[in-house]
Amino acid sequence: MRATHTNADMSHENKLYYKTSIFLKSLRDNGLFSTLRKIGQRIFYKTKGVDFSTQNIYDLTRKGEHQEHGTALVSTSTDFLQQLLGDLEKLIDKPLNKRLFVDFGSGKGAAIIHARELGFQRTIGVEFAKELHERAIQNIKALGLSHVDSIYEDATNYKLPNDISLIYFFNPFDEVVMQKVMSNIMQQKSNFENDVYIIYGNASCSVLKEHCQLLDETVYTSGAKAEFYKL
Ligand SMILES: C[S@@+](CC[C@H](N)C(=O)[O-])C[C@H]1O[C@@H](n2cnc3c(N)ncnc32)[C@H](O)[C@@H]1O
Repeated sequence: MRATHTNADMSHENKLYYKTSIFLKSLRDNGLFSTLRKIGQRIFYKTKGVDFSTQNIYDLTRKGEHQEHGTALVSTSTDFLQQLLGDLEKLIDKPLNKRLFVDFGSGKGAAIIHARELGFQRTIGVEFAKELHERAIQNIKALGLSHVDSIYEDATNYKLPNDISLIYFFNPFDEVVMQKVMSNIMQQKSNFENDVYIIYGNASCSVLKEHCQLLDETVYTSGAKAEFYKL
């Protein structure tokens, strides 16, 4: 099995040496002000009891038949999501429709929480690891947010609401699951009320390229990648 999926050990991301290297890189790439702002946000989350830390999933309670096809939990940061949304907006050359944001493989709820804070009217996350879903619920509650929901489900069993406007994948699973998710989405497409865009962060398979219109792909200085699509 490839190291990107369920058996990947991501626990090094919580170690002090890793955090220090990220801090130094942020200082170099983004400057002191932006780095201090990020640290301030982390301290704020800590005081609220919010936890978005990286976590392996192979020892968690996973729902459904695709237990061996998912990736470890790595949470999206506010800055990264903001960058992605801004880049998509520039690509389509109009303001984003911020009606409904859905994150397939939503972990501890970081992306759905940030998306709500960045102006989406409603956000929904679908997560198959029970412990991560429960942590997402706690995080949402700790921040007192409304219209942010975490659903405990395998992504292949989730039916998108018709008012969907943005779909987010942050390298959640391999092509086996992605193929099923995309085929469900294509079957529902005619019911959708809005133009729907997709952001695929750190893409690890090419399934979306078969189904959707690729608008652009970007590699960021951090090493993160993103693909932008119109459904
Ligand atoms: C890389 S993390 C992304 C977390 C979140 N999207 C974020 O950006 O903060 C991938 C997540 O997908 C979840 N996942 C993997 N396979 C899944 C499946 N079949 N259905 C639902 N969630 C899945 C994992 O448990 C993990 O939490």
